[in-house]
Amino acid sequence: MIIYEKLDEIHKKAIDEFGGALNREQLYQFKVNYLGKNGLVTELMKEMAKLSVEDKKEFGRRINVVKQDLETQYTERFETLKLKELDEQMRRESLDLTLPPPRQPRGNPHPVHRVRDEVVQILSRIGYSLRLGPSIETDYYNFEALNIPKNHPARDMQDTFFVDDTHVLRTHTSPIQIHSLEAESLPLRIIGTGPVFRVDSDISHLPNFHQIEGMCVDRKISMADLKGTITYFVKEFFGSDLKTRFRPSYFPFTEPSAEVDCQCPICKGKGCSLCKNSGWIEIGGAGLMNPKVLLAAKVKYPEWTGFAFGFGLERMAIIKYGIPDIRLLPENNLSFLKQF
Ligand code: PHE
Repeated sequence: MIIYEKLDEIHKKAIDEFGGALNREQLYQFKVNYLGKNGLVTELMKEMAKLSVEDKKEFGRRINVVKQDLETQYTERFETLKLKELDEQMRRESLDLTLPPPRQPRGNPHPVHRVRDEVVQILSRIGYSLRLGPSIETDYYNFEALNIPKNHPARDMQDTFFVDDTHVLRTHTSPIQIHSLEAESLPLRIIGTGPVFRVDSDISHLPNFHQIEGMCVDRKISMADLKGTITYFVKEFFGSDLKTRFRPSYFPFTEPSAEVDCQCPICKGKGCSLCKNSGWIEIGGAGLMNPKVLLAAKVKYPEWTGFAFGFGLERMAIIKYGIPDIRLLPENNLSFLKQF
């Protein structure tokens, strides 16, 4: 009977196709073509209606055998393909240990650290050695010991980040002077450096910047020693084409006090936005140590006298490298940093 032949033919073709499926997706599509709702086997079942009762029974039995066989064929092929695909995937994704690794870009020192190291080197040539201190200071070391009592207007000079009632983020590196005076014997020539913090931010101010501090305590120290040291140091650091100047100023911990300015490297003194049209950039303060500070640290004054200075490292960096905006320094943009 023709319907049995048709069934055999479909069965054979299905086995062929299942066996030739290249992947599980294709295999599944083949299964749908035969056993799905509109599949060939399913369509053939609809023709059963035309058969006699006897043939219906026989044909029904055979078509069930075919269906079951195709399910089995499908499962077997599915498992084979699964292993094959896994195998291929493993081969595709295997590690090639002979490949060279991706290149690690090389780093270089941050300009602020470069400046710090250079200053330390220059000052160590004339007998200074390095000291560090904590970033969180007590009110005593940051202010009181430096002759800035509570409610003194000088506290407004340095907008302070307070940690609690008695601790601040140090607003300058001058507390290192006090730690050193308390712990060490005289004479002393020290450099203090590290991060300092102030509520301040614009083209030439950062809320977190770095200072370098120098202190010399010895017998018969005068303003001439201070000027000589700073002049030597600024010349060594900037070279000789940029002028420096001392302006009378006020700090509670020095007397007399001066502000040290350096000629603006961008406009060479003509006036621009970096130097606020003055032609000069302030790099820090300096002065002879106030006897009150020495006496509070139990230094025998006037047997011993001293001078101190404190410079901003970022300021020195922008002057040395001609950087037009101080805020570029903490941004850490790699293409900017790579230039140094
Ligand atoms: N500590 C001062 C400041 O940060 C700078 C300074 C240091 C001035 C030492 C004089 C002597 O403003």
